[in-house]
Amino acid sequence: MTLRINDLVPDFSANTTEGEISFHEWINDSWVVLFSHPKDFTPVCTTELGYMAKLNQEFKERNCKIIGISVDTISDHQDWKKDIQLSQGYEVNYPLIADNNLEIAKLFNMLPANSEGKSEERSAADNATVRSVFLIGPDNRIKAMLTYPMSTGRNFDEILRLLDSCQLTENYNVATPVNWKTGDDVIIPPKVNNEEAIKIYPEGWRDPLPYLRFIPIKNIKRVKK
Ligand code: BEZ
Repeated sequence: MTLRINDLVPDFSANTTEGEISFHEWINDSWVVLFSHPKDFTPVCTTELGYMAKLNQEFKERNCKIIGISVDTISDHQDWKKDIQLSQGYEVNYPLIADNNLEIAKLFNMLPANSEGKSEERSAADNATVRSVFLIGPDNRIKAMLTYPMSTGRNFDEILRLLDSCQLTENYNVATPVNWKTGDDVIIPPKVNNEEAIKIYPEGWRDPLPYLRFIPIKNIKRVKK
């Protein structure tokens, strides 16, 4: 299944380290980061899951739940959590989905391209998921997706930055420039022409180009998109 931005995220039931969940019900008006990792007891994943545990409070403060997924069992997840805490210094304080039969991995296209055929006919490496991240809004729609190869750990500070931008641009008719972070100037989007813009922003804007119009974040106004 090919998922795209703004699609309704697929619903599924799953066993997690914190009990059974029904995904849409679990989202429950929160933002969600669903992220897959190739395999338990592997080095890059160990650093990633430890770092997400460290960042979890930041996500919570933004009304965002985080949830990991791999094809490993609950019992493996539970054993591995001890290694993560020991080596990374953070307890995995969010649920991990056990997707033993690859159902969710297939639903979200989390398997690498060479993963045709039945799971038992493939090697353990083929069954591993790639490093995918899905950012989902409280409306259960996909806001952003990214996919990394197995050998490259992700930058989860970037996911937090992405969440800040998506939450801002959902509520305000603005866009965020390269490397934007909370507090930085934002952009008036092209669909707001100058005539409309001056009504919304009588203080004016900084425009190095006619189509590149910056306003200080303190001037933004919540307007219906
Ligand atoms: C890792 O997490 O270290 C890893 C997992 C699968 C392939 C390569 C590295």
